[in-house]
Amino acid sequence: MSINPLFLDELRNRLTLSEIIGRRITVKRAGRESKACCPFHGEKTPSFTINDDKQFYHCFGCGAHGDVIGFVMKHDNLSFIDTLEMLAAEAGMEVPKQTPQAAAKAKKDKDLYELMEDATLFFEDNLHDPRNLDALSYLLDRGISKETIKEFRIGFAPDDGQALRKYLLSKDYKEADMIKAGVIRASTRGGDPYAFFRDRVMFPVPDRRNRIVAFGGRILPEHMRPPQRGDFVPPKYINSSETPLFHKGSMLYGEPIARRAAADGQKIVLVEGYLDVIACAQAGIRGALAPMGTAVTDEQIISMWKMIPDFTKIPILCFDGDGAGRKAARRVSENILPLLEAGRSVDFAFMPDGEDPDSLIKSSGVKGLQKILGQSISLFDFIWNFYIAGREFKTPELRAGVIKQLDNEVARVANADVQVHYKSLLRQKVSDKFFKRKPFGGGFNKGNKWQSGNKVGMKPMRPSSSKSRAAHLFPRVLLAAIINHPHIFDGVEDVLSSLVVGDRALDRLRQNIMAILSDDPVIDRLVLLGQLENAGFAQEIGDICNESVYVHASFCSASAKDEDVQSLWLEYWSDGNEARLEEEIQNGWKRAFVDSNEEEEVRLRDLLYEKRSGED
Ligand code: UTP
Ligand code: MN
Repeated sequence: MSINPLFLDELRNRLTLSEIIGRRITVKRAGRESKACCPFHGEKTPSFTINDDKQFYHCFGCGAHGDVIGFVMKHDNLSFIDTLEMLAAEAGMEVPKQTPQAAAKAKKDKDLYELMEDATLFFEDNLHDPRNLDALSYLLDRGISKETIKEFRIGFAPDDGQALRKYLLSKDYKEADMIKAGVIRASTRGGDPYAFFRDRVMFPVPDRRNRIVAFGGRILPEHMRPPQRGDFVPPKYINSSETPLFHKGSMLYGEPIARRAAADGQKIVLVEGYLDVIACAQAGIRGALAPMGTAVTDEQIISMWKMIPDFTKIPILCFDGDGAGRKAARRVSENILPLLEAGRSVDFAFMPDGEDPDSLIKSSGVKGLQKILGQSISLFDFIWNFYIAGREFKTPELRAGVIKQLDNEVARVANADVQVHYKSLLRQKVSDKFFKRKPFGGGFNKGNKWQSGNKVGMKPMRPSSSKSRAAHLFPRVLLAAIINHPHIFDGVEDVLSSLVVGDRALDRLRQNIMAILSDDPVIDRLVLLGQLENAGFAQEIGDICNESVYVHASFCSASAKDEDVQSLWLEYWSDGNEARLEEEIQNGWKRAFVDSNEEEEVRLRDLLYEKRSGED
């Protein structure tokens, strides 16, 4: 989008830089320049200087500098165009629109935004009206400070269904617009339209540019408003319905504050309700956000990722610790898998039973909540625990079953790069859980003899079944491919580092390859071969880098097309890994069978002794 430079000049001229900055951080006047502690790096003595004449700021501490647009973009964590729109509104200007349609819509919306702003002021005034003192005391008694009430612009909608309408009419708003904005509703009984929110504490919902676009209204508790005769129990909260300004599924409560917090390096934390966001912010956890009465949507997840300026974007999602909370977390985990990308995920935190972040802060302080947030677990671990925690898998069928379920989950990760690592981590966890060898006698790899090293001059043991043959080939193909195409190392390193190679000599070869390539990932194939041979692996390389291996997987030969090797390698690994696991299950059972026959062995030995002594 191209913006006329004259427009930008006019915008900068109309705004006073130190004023705009002063609304966000504490600024001290010092002659013609103003000073502040730099919001972009931690400091105690101010080296952040604002020059209103020159219309720029400069930090002598960290070198940050720019104009009013740059400051707001950086500080509020907003896009260029969002920043322009916001500053233009403050300066009483209009950002030139690209199309007449966009211009017309902007004009229509502007009236609605202004209407919502006036409605917000109306509710704020009403909260401080002596007639509604009980509503204000309710908030203060809940521990919400006056400053917080102001910051979140909390208000009160009076019981009188006509009050807001009359107020907005007196300000020349049209009834049709009030209905469009969702603050009044047409009467079904032929009377005047009446207020949608009545006798409720009002939480205005700001969009990311801090314009009010919706409201949530909470009833006062029962002891203050005993239920009326008749059996209608009003819902605790009602929220604005969809309007041209408000899209419930894509917005989150608390966004402007959370955006700034994210820009300051605070964590984004998704909580359940309005009062959780407010209590968190008041306690200094300013990255808190909440959906508004709906389950969290894909759009909301993506929007949280966008708010986080770092490459690694991992908001914490809070859930109740009870069954319902776990169920909700489970649903979210299912929805997120297809959305994952490199650096993007979510963590899960579970509240103690019966607590929400607001009540937890009250009962255990902000430390209590921070502790719970600190114990949050990754999406991967959440899924793993969901299937594994607290259950026993004694039979091979149960084990294979749960592995299959986990595989199905991992298959739902749409991003190929992320999926590879989900697979690799899953294999590692499965292998730790179900295949860890007991460290007793006989040493490494007991019962897996066909895989153990082939001594020079010895005939390799013949793999007995086609499955064993596949398992025998598996590490050889993978290692041959790396030796012949060392450039794939970067893309396969994680898998290679957790690859279980039963053959000791081959495993040492694997470790040597990793060591050499970690030092020099762009090493030439022949240089690599030379180094490995010098390190004493000539025999092993001769064993695996030959046609008897290549015939099984042509991508591992030196003549394979370079650019295909990495993806074929990963594919081969992921297919073969499943086969290898099955093989391990088989072996595990063989081992178990042998172990359980130890008594039998003793008996046979005794019989032998007996026999021999009888011969004497
Ligand atoms: P809660 O019932 O947990 O309320 O609803 P809360 O946020 O803890 O509020 P207090 O502490 O009881 O005052 C959590 C969120 O679910 C939505 C609201 O967004 C609320 O903040 N909700 C709840 C509704 O939309 N409608 C309802 O009737 C109840
Ligand atoms: Mn609550």
